[in-house]
Amino acid sequence: LGRYSSNKFFDAKSPFVSKTELPKYYQPWMETARNVPKLIDSHSLRTHIHQMPLLETHFMKSHRELRLAHLALSVMTMGYVWQEGDRDTVKVLPRILAVPYCEVSQRLGLPPILTHADAVLANWKKKDPQGPLDMENLELLLSLPGGESVRGFFLVTMLVELAAVPGVKAIPKVIAGVRQGEVATVTRALDSISLAINGMKEAFKLMHVYVEPSVFYGVIRIYLSGWKDNPCMAEGLVYEGVQAEPMEFSGGSAAQSSLLHCFDELLGVKHETKSGTFLTRMRDYMPPAHKQLIQDISSHRPSLRDFVLERNNAGLVSAFDRCVSQLVSFRSYHINVVSRFIAVPAARAKQLRSQDQGSEPDQAIIGKAPTALEERGTGGSAIMSLLKTARDQTSNVTIHGP
Ligand code: ALA
Repeated sequence: LGRYSSNKFFDAKSPFVSKTELPKYYQPWMETARNVPKLIDSHSLRTHIHQMPLLETHFMKSHRELRLAHLALSVMTMGYVWQEGDRDTVKVLPRILAVPYCEVSQRLGLPPILTHADAVLANWKKKDPQGPLDMENLELLLSLPGGESVRGFFLVTMLVELAAVPGVKAIPKVIAGVRQGEVATVTRALDSISLAINGMKEAFKLMHVYVEPSVFYGVIRIYLSGWKDNPCMAEGLVYEGVQAEPMEFSGGSAAQSSLLHCFDELLGVKHETKSGTFLTRMRDYMPPAHKQLIQDISSHRPSLRDFVLERNNAGLVSAFDRCVSQLVSFRSYHINVVSRFIAVPAARAKQLRSQDQGSEPDQAIIGKAPTALEERGTGGSAIMSLLKTARDQTSNVTIHGP
């Protein structure tokens, strides 16, 4: 793991740095958003938000300002809704949040709820701007309850995204190579992709180092969950001043990351109906440019898999199969992480309910988690069957196998 942090991708001078400040006018948002964990701890976030002024959104001009505003409004909204856990939820998001949140969301083409694009992609900065992109030199812009574990969860996920960059960059090379019939170019680009997916898995392993399962399960997850397919908020949420009818939005999910969607479309992975519907819906929770990229990859012809089958070149077939097996291996590893961070604590929580409360501190934390999230992901999916089906559908596109 230590060796991974000296990987060359971690030293990349990424141009995609997040914006860290909004114009001064938006100070009430940024100050409140920065204090969300503290205000939840003292059960005073809702009261604090009721006293905020209603701000205009037209002073924000750039995409990055809007992304930071969306992140801040998302963190305040998740805190507002879930301040008292799954028991004392709210039916209405006050206009002070709802109106600007929906305006900013509309300008960005994102839904008015915390997404992967907020919590992970737009939520980091380097402590030392000249230093590397690694866990020691990264920090979150905004956080939610869960201390070091929430930092670990968002930043490790961000490092998985970072490790994928060379793989995503190789996709247009694969597509151009297929169009021009260049077997060697396609083989080389596929090798970059399998290497990158392996790097994503290595980065993912850091989850075990930086995130405590009982804190993730018992404290963090509720703040990532939404108001669709969630029995705790079965009626959805009224965005006051926007629409009288309640609206439903799914909570955060790794399925909102465009990475696996891109690799799946490139390799021709077809998802089974139920998982496929969920995964396709999650594309509406991505920045529109990400959704567009996935569509562009899926529409290119001839398809990569048809090209590989047609050429039947041994080196090309094994490069293709290596990508598939790396993707299967990444998905298996995800199942392993979900077992440790969700399935095992959920089983303990069930056991705790059926006997006297235990006395160990992590038992008390686990016991606080909403039962509605025992079988579901925070995005509302049947998490284990989704991941297992997606892994099996991925293996199906293998050409020769090992
Ligand atoms: N989707 C992840 C979960 O269910 C974050 O906890």
